[in-house]
Amino acid sequence: MEKKRFETEVIHGGYNTEDYHDSLVPPLFQTSTFTFSNAKQGERRFAGEEEGFIYSRLGNPTVKILEERLAILEGAEKGLAFGSGMAAVSAVLFSLVKAGDHILCSKGVYGCTFGLLQLMEEKFNIQHDFSLMETKENVRNALQPNTACIYIETPINPTMKLVDLQMVAEVAREKGIPVVVDNTFCSPYLQKPIELGCDVVIHSATKYICGHGDVVAGLVAGSEDFLNKVALTTQKDIGGIISPFDAWLLLRGLKTLPVRMDRHCENAEKLATALAAHPAVEQVFYPGDPNNRDYHIAKRQMHKPGGVISFTIKGTKEDAQTFLDRLELIKIAVSLGDAETLIQHPATMTHSVVPKDVRTEMGISDTMLRLSVGLEAWEDIWQDLKQALDKA
Ligand SMILES: Cc1ncc(COP(=O)(O)O)c(C=O)c1O
Repeated sequence: MEKKRFETEVIHGGYNTEDYHDSLVPPLFQTSTFTFSNAKQGERRFAGEEEGFIYSRLGNPTVKILEERLAILEGAEKGLAFGSGMAAVSAVLFSLVKAGDHILCSKGVYGCTFGLLQLMEEKFNIQHDFSLMETKENVRNALQPNTACIYIETPINPTMKLVDLQMVAEVAREKGIPVVVDNTFCSPYLQKPIELGCDVVIHSATKYICGHGDVVAGLVAGSEDFLNKVALTTQKDIGGIISPFDAWLLLRGLKTLPVRMDRHCENAEKLATALAAHPAVEQVFYPGDPNNRDYHIAKRQMHKPGGVISFTIKGTKEDAQTFLDRLELIKIAVSLGDAETLIQHPATMTHSVVPKDVRTEMGISDTMLRLSVGLEAWEDIWQDLKQALDKA
């Protein structure tokens, strides 16, 4: 069949009603295991000689539809679903590296990814370095003879700095090093790392892909070869799989992804402008701002600048916390990509595990706040921010 547009594939991709008793909506296969008609069939399935499901940790029909849909949306050969974004991150990293290897990482990552890198160093002697990755030289100089993977978040959580994916992928290709991109902040609607030359894409599907704040899940897209290896090793044997029901909820949430993202982005653009003009705000970090250092990268690799804005307010950590306590409509919560506007204080919440000096180097100050712009009327979100800022 002819390739369809993104807005069509989020609804139909990877699912054929005729294969499932003409059910309009993908059925929920809420089962832990699958029966074999006889012992020989069981033997053949375990030996990989016959297609068919065995046990839901090894594959499940509802989960498979989600995985195929993600692969189509990311332009990848294959997708894999996990029980959380961190299950996806750890399964990918543990598949790519071994004791004694080195990981080159963007200068700034989600706090638990930072924690995982620390753990890998302490327990398995897998070293890592952070790099701004601003130029090809910058990347080449940061690579070590034992670098086994480049790991990038862009936009970086929560500083909203960007990394030029095509540029890094070109350097990585010279050396045959795989590039892994955490695409959580964009979703495949705003950014497609594989089309830019990267190898593996990870999502905390908890965020925009779900979109409704009711699932914790992770997704990975990449080559058939690599993801088969992940499926048969770190996914199967460590076991961080998604439940069929959560996969079913993600398939439901995905249908509205482009519509939701358009609204998140539209609201964020208006709020970023309003925030920048308020005297109590020190600085706004938003890739859609033409004065932003990385605006040209955003223009090139992102379809739209996204729905997350970080900003610093004038004053101290306590002033930032008092500001949060004054908010009425906006909820204080970690996570992002939900219909509800959420705000959090990275220094004491998502990035509290990162030592203060490293946080400062990454650009995370004590007065920085991360706003996940929701789908409410932007005027109401602004009214709430403004009343709290006016009292500062
Ligand atoms: C950029 C990014 N990557 C990964 C994760 C981890 O995802 P999860 O919470 O679904 O395990 C998060 C969570 O906030 C995140 O923001």
